[in-house]
Parts: sequence; structure tokens; C-alpha cells
Amino acid sequence: MEYSTKISERMWNQSDKGELEAEREQTFIDDIVQKSHIEKELLRNLDGIETVFDGGGGCGRFSILLAKQGLHVTHFDISLPMIVKAKELAEKAGVLDRMTFVKGALEDLSDYADQSFDLVMSFDAPISYTYPDQEKTIKELVRIAKKRIMISVSSRLGALPYLANPIQKNQFFLDRNSEDVLVRWSIEHRDQMIENFHLNKDSLMKSYESGLLCDVEETKNAYDSGEVPWCISYHFMPDELQKLLTDCGVKNISLAGPGAFARTIPNEILVKIMKDPKQREDFLEFCHFYDSNPYVCGMGKDNLFAKGEIGQE
Ligand SMILES: C[S@@+](CC[C@H](N)C(=O)[O-])C[C@H]1O[C@@H](n2cnc3c(N)ncnc32)[C@H](O)[C@@H]1O
Repeated sequence: MEYSTKISERMWNQSDKGELEAEREQTFIDDIVQKSHIEKELLRNLDGIETVFDGGGGCGRFSILLAKQGLHVTHFDISLPMIVKAKELAEKAGVLDRMTFVKGALEDLSDYADQSFDLVMSFDAPISYTYPDQEKTIKELVRIAKKRIMISVSSRLGALPYLANPIQKNQFFLDRNSEDVLVRWSIEHRDQMIENFHLNKDSLMKSYESGLLCDVEETKNAYDSGEVPWCISYHFMPDELQKLLTDCGVKNISLAGPGAFARTIPNEILVKIMKDPKQREDFLEFCHFYDSNPYVCGMGKDNLFAKGEIGQE
């Protein structure tokens, strides 16, 4: 088994992961924008779709949404705590009978025949966590899709600003008084992070060229000594993702960068918009429109989104 698979499994198997992931949109505005973008795309592209495969479905943000639309969804994930949380939420939503839960790694989809599902989806970077097998994983996801594929992967251009802005996440806090551990930690360590920051051009160039933000050997060593490092994540360039999908025979490909518009707006204004239901709805609608422009897709906040049709012009 590749290191990335083992690291992903250990990280996502932490017992509180399901709970924490299920609460992200109550805390972080960038997650609200990203979820809203993907929801809009899904709900507008369900013609002819009856069966769905959700690869790395997590706590069910999108698999449950589609089961609620009457579709049958296979929810596939490497982490048992995430599956347990997704099942609990699916039961609450009354859609358990339309969902099949499978524990597995995206690196091995050999149990599924070609064109097994009308729609194959995988959101918020599970594909990136299969490094160095990300290309093979995309090919396999396309192989099991019959009509349509929708994915979002880690974005290289979108992620590089993290290396020059350790306090970037603070821009997206919905409530600075939240008890969320990341919010509390980031607020308490803000000054220290600014003081300790030192721009490292070599590191920026290395990540730009490799698509990796971490040092793979250091991450492997941390795993071997029992730590729970963040997954090794491969960050894609837009043209690279487009070419990979094209080479697999995907047609009518479009790319988007959820969060590209929102990241230009300061926290005080974002919070104001989020607190007013009409402005919030308008903002999310405009973000979807702006972030769907292919000229900004690389600057999505965390993710690069792609959709395409299988075997049609
Ligand atoms: C950030 S969460 C996204 C969950 C969901 N797609 C969403 O957008 O809400 C990433 C998910 O990918 C799963 N994952 C990570 N590596 C995986 C792998 N190699 N195979 C299958 N699932 C994986 C994790 O367990 C986690 O549930």
C-alpha cells in the first residue's frame, strides 16, 4: 500500500473527523462558497442520472443531497468514522434505503465494472490524496462512469498563496468567537505566525513545479514515528487536469475555481454579507457565476472543479 493511502487512512480515521467535517459550513465562509458551488452544479446537471458513485464521500455533504433527489448513491470512503457519520445523517434525512456505503480506497476500484454509474463524482480533493496514483485514479473514475463525471481536486495555483500567507484562513471565519479548535488556535497564534513568517522563494518555486506543498520524505517519517501528518496532496494545474480528462475520452469539459471571487474580499465584508440572507443568496449565486469563468479557475480557494460528459460531443 502506498504511503499516501496509509496516511489518508490514519488521518481521516481520527474519531472526531466525521463530526468536525459535518460542521465546516457553520464555521468557515470558504467552505460555504465551495459547497454552494458544487450543489448548484449537481442540481443543474442531473438529467438522465439515476445512479451515482461518490468517491471519498466523507460525511455525505453531496451523496445525501443526491439521495434526497431520488437517486441511488454508492457512498465510498477510506474512513470508517466518516462513513458512520454519513450513515447517521442519511438516516436523519430519511434516505438510507437509497444509499450503499462502501469502505475502500480510490486507488483500487477494480470491484466496479466499466460504466457502472450514470454519474461519478469526487469532491474536495480525495483524488489528490491518492498521490502518486492520482492519474490512474482519474482514469478509473472515468472508466466506471457512464454519462457524466464531476470532481474537485487540490488546486496548485490556488494553494500556493498559503505558503506566503499563514493567516489566510482567518479571512474566512464566520464567527471569531466560535469554539472551533482551528478558529481558536488561529486567533491565538495570529501575531506569532506573522512574526515567525519568512518568505521562502525556493519553497514557492519547488511547490509550483512539483504540485506538492509538503516534503514527502518528512511526511513519511512522521507517519513512521506514529504521528498523524496531513495527507500528501497532489495539486493540479488547470491545463493538466483538462488534458488528463481529455486523454481519458471525457468531452465538453469545463473547469471552475470555487472561492476565487470570495478570496478577494476582506473578512469584515464577507461576514456582513453572510449575515443578511438576501445578500448571502445573491453573493453565492454571483460567486458561482464568476468562479465558473475558466480564466479564474486556477485561483479557486483550495479546489479546482471539473465536469465533463462521457462519450458525447
Ligand atoms: C475533505 S473530505 C471531502 C468529503 C466529501 N467529498 C465532501 O466534499 O464533503 C475528503 C474525504 O476523502 C476521503 N479519502 C481520503 N483519501 C481517500 C482515498 N485514498 N480513498 C477514498 N477516500 C479517501 C476522506 O476519508 C474524506 O472523507
